[in-house]
Amino acid sequence: MGNRLVILTGAGISAESGLRTFRGNDGMWEHENIEDVCTPRALRRDPKRVMDFYNFLRKGLPSHQPNAAHIALAELEDRLGDDFLLITQNVDDLHERAGSKRVLHMHGDLMKLRCTHNENHVFLFDKEETLDTKCPFCGAGTRPDIVFFEEIPLYMDQIQEALRECDDFVYIGTSSVVYPAAGFKNFAKQFGAKVTCLNLEIPAHDRDTDVFIQGKATEIVPKWCKEFK
Ligand code: APR
Repeated sequence: MGNRLVILTGAGISAESGLRTFRGNDGMWEHENIEDVCTPRALRRDPKRVMDFYNFLRKGLPSHQPNAAHIALAELEDRLGDDFLLITQNVDDLHERAGSKRVLHMHGDLMKLRCTHNENHVFLFDKEETLDTKCPFCGAGTRPDIVFFEEIPLYMDQIQEALRECDDFVYIGTSSVVYPAAGFKNFAKQFGAKVTCLNLEIPAHDRDTDVFIQGKATEIVPKWCKEFK
């Protein structure tokens, strides 16, 4: 028996916690060049530049707090238990700090590093990564535990299974332009799920979505969670 409710979140759910989204006004990618900090080529070409970009984001994260949307999802998870699964595209830890437990970080986790020799060697890390940082399991070099563009997102088998089985698929705070996450709603719909979008902007001509709820996450998410049966 799969999860009855599968949620996908994007940068928009953390916007009111003060974390920059990626696209739209003042978006992250307006200030950084993806090619310089978020591709395998960038890591090969200038690993220190990539590490410093994620060191800067990691260092700033503790000063941002989970908001009412993160908290409402954690409370809904408490109510639904194993019927609930949260997939996030975000690399921040605000869902966990709000109390969420069943969280799949499909684009990686800012508070972790990954060994460059064995990708299963992943470990919590809250400091400044340098070229001398070593994997605690095998002593090899490290990289941010972030899924770069052109790399395959994490947990895809588990995610596909959950999307096949769920009754409700709800995507929150995402522009739905980056695949495979942007394709989840169509996939869930094909297997009979009801698809709901909660977002500040309503994506244009989207035939996969049954219900659109427009607004700021801290307002529409707690209300939707309270009404969800
Ligand atoms: N409340 C609700 N939605 C919001 C809010 C808010 N306060 N602020 C912004 N949004 C919405 C925007 O309208 C937009 O649709 O959140 C969405 C943010 O979109 P993006 O910045 O594209 O972020 P996301 O969809 O998470 O990006 C997906 O792209 O850059 C890669 O790996 C990165 O995980 C990221 C992926």
